[in-house]
Amino acid sequence: MKTHYVIGAVVLMLGSPLYALAAEAQTPVSSAIPQTQIKQRDSFIATLMKKMTLDDKIGQLNLVSVGPDNPKEKIMADIREDKVGGVFNTVTKPDIRRMQDQVQYSRLKIPPFYAYDVVHGQRTIFPISLGLASSWDMQAVATSARVSAEETAADGLNMTFSPMVDITRDPRWGRVSEGFGEDTYLTSRLAYEMVKGYQGDDPSAPGNVMANVKHYALYGAVEGGREYNTVDMSLSRMFNDYMPPYKAAVDAGVGGVMVALNSVNGVPATSNGWLLKDILRDQWKFHGLTVSDHGAIGGLVKHGVAEDDRQAAAMALKAGVDMDMADNQYGQYLRGLLKDKLISEQDIDRAVRDVLIAKWDMGLFADPYRHLGPPSTDPVDTNAESRLHRTEAREVARASMVLLKNDNHVLPLQKKGTIALIGALADSQRDMMGSWSAAGVSKQTITVRKGMQDAIGDKATLLYARGSNIIDDPAIVTFLNSYEKQIQNDPRPAQEMIDEAVKTAEKADVIVAVVGEAQGMAHEASSRTDISIPQSQKNLLKALKATGKPLVLVLMNGRPLTLPWENDNANAMLETWFAGTEGGHAVADVLFGDYNPSGKLPMTFPRAVGQIPLYNSVLNTGRPFNPQKPDKYTSRYFDITNGPLFPFGYGLSYTDFSVSDVSLSSTTLARNGAITASVRVKNTGKVAGATVVQLYTQDVTASISRPVKELKNFEKVYLQPGEEKQVSFTLRTADLGFYDNQLKWAAEAGKFNVFIGLDSVNVKENSFLLL
Ligand code: BGC
Repeated sequence: MKTHYVIGAVVLMLGSPLYALAAEAQTPVSSAIPQTQIKQRDSFIATLMKKMTLDDKIGQLNLVSVGPDNPKEKIMADIREDKVGGVFNTVTKPDIRRMQDQVQYSRLKIPPFYAYDVVHGQRTIFPISLGLASSWDMQAVATSARVSAEETAADGLNMTFSPMVDITRDPRWGRVSEGFGEDTYLTSRLAYEMVKGYQGDDPSAPGNVMANVKHYALYGAVEGGREYNTVDMSLSRMFNDYMPPYKAAVDAGVGGVMVALNSVNGVPATSNGWLLKDILRDQWKFHGLTVSDHGAIGGLVKHGVAEDDRQAAAMALKAGVDMDMADNQYGQYLRGLLKDKLISEQDIDRAVRDVLIAKWDMGLFADPYRHLGPPSTDPVDTNAESRLHRTEAREVARASMVLLKNDNHVLPLQKKGTIALIGALADSQRDMMGSWSAAGVSKQTITVRKGMQDAIGDKATLLYARGSNIIDDPAIVTFLNSYEKQIQNDPRPAQEMIDEAVKTAEKADVIVAVVGEAQGMAHEASSRTDISIPQSQKNLLKALKATGKPLVLVLMNGRPLTLPWENDNANAMLETWFAGTEGGHAVADVLFGDYNPSGKLPMTFPRAVGQIPLYNSVLNTGRPFNPQKPDKYTSRYFDITNGPLFPFGYGLSYTDFSVSDVSLSSTTLARNGAITASVRVKNTGKVAGATVVQLYTQDVTASISRPVKELKNFEKVYLQPGEEKQVSFTLRTADLGFYDNQLKWAAEAGKFNVFIGLDSVNVKENSFLLL
């Protein structure tokens, strides 16, 4: 697999005229489909389009959601009238088949496709994406995407609205749970891997589905982490940091792109022809389907760029949004807009062609029942246990966990004596699944309580007490329960629950407290100003601490949290995110040492919310803060220890590793040459384990300020006790370039620092000259 992604040339609209700027080598766009088939496809579609009326064409642009306002029967009637291009939010074979059966009664017999938000698993739920990223394990990530694709196809679906590859550097934003974190390189690798995992080389093949990368573009950079908010960003930051993951998905051959809800420098993505045409199509050579996000076309009026829905529809179509998700603005207005010459027939045809090409690529013209098969193949029970992939889920989940603290080797726990397990989250099946897991079944999910009980059998005693509600604030509970009743609070007084937990803890040798967020607190529409553990659980933790027993925290959460008190007072902390169907078993594997934790943080954990944004690849200032010589007039806060609580790339193990100095194959790098940076990594502890060796670089002096450290590569290595291994990374000129604010790409000659370590802070350093 390629280990670097290059954006290629970028066309920049600087008012007028249009500047076409040359850039570094273009990566070829991978197309799974051979040329001969492309010809066949294009001629089939051209013939079909000749038979289509204007209404038929507009129908193809309609992506409808099944829901109370749009029941299945209505959609079936619309399919019979060629008014539906695709359907989402229906997830069982019999339901999809009933809809697809209507196609035969339509005039044109163009089958709709069926999509769903399969973000981290379909029936088997894998860890949330932030957890997947924490594994830094491409094999594990590929497994999760493969299993997701197979289960999605097995439900008769053709497309997933995934992967979500928005770079996220503000943990106040709830959707950080859906992405792969703050880092451009790591997220780009994962974007590529996920698309390949979902689609394979052919999205129509059995067990494959078409991927739809989202949210293009820059949704992760909403101001203040407030949901749906504005994005305003320099072009260099945009193209160096935020765009590469979308580009990586395009390079992997992604079939679809979902357009973001936010605006970018004042222009909503949904009406942004620069993003959708100049960059995506012309520069990146994306040939697939674009879909709006939910109701985003109507949103253009609220953004204040369209007077009314009618104008919004014209703007979105002209900008390059092919399909209209869930608000039928195209259906209502395109005919009239064409009549009034506000859009052209070519605008409509272009969008329709993209939809039809996607359907061809999904194999739907060859067989409208693609993935559905005959009714005899329908599962007797959609939720049957036999349809799950528990082994894979457990393996991936344990690889996703990050050990944040482990004083005096309190972990791993022994399977003997008495363990007090405390916390509402310890016994919550729904929360273990995380956000976007709607086809998963809570009842099939393993909680921490069940996982630990299974692990110890009758070798030890596991006591359990709830201790507190996840969150008590009634206004917040009402908010979180507003669309789905997800929080069910115990009505007992808080003190009564705490007292019960303390009594339970007093009987035990060690306390395991499972604390954090309800899954709905880290989701779409769930931005927080306070990213600490909710007060009800903090009160509980203080009471548990007062017992004097060893205190192990198992964290369940969908974003970096502020954990200063917890870090000072707990003896050990294990970050488990929302770990999915087999989460409880995976947590128990790690707690009892049946698996040695190897995850690393894909997002920085700040000490306080006021430090946000806090991330690894920052630019230096003219007055950098130096913790060794902390001067007043430097870039710092005066009321807190500066720097993160846990940096990007951080994570402990039950063993210890040493890293040698960095040796370089040369002190100079010629333009078309390569340089190798190597370290020797040794397992100096007593148990086998894995760690992630991380390579960072810094362009010391350049025409614009460059990050103090940028991740450029990594390798997960497994070592037996005493085993040593050489880890080598190759750097080429293409790995060292960047875009300036005129979007000129260059790798500039001069000094580069190279850092290698097991996180982004504790690194060994060397340097070379790029000639
Ligand atoms: C989200 C998308 C999602 C879509 C369809 C929107 O609200 O922003 O990520 O794919 O809904 O469910």
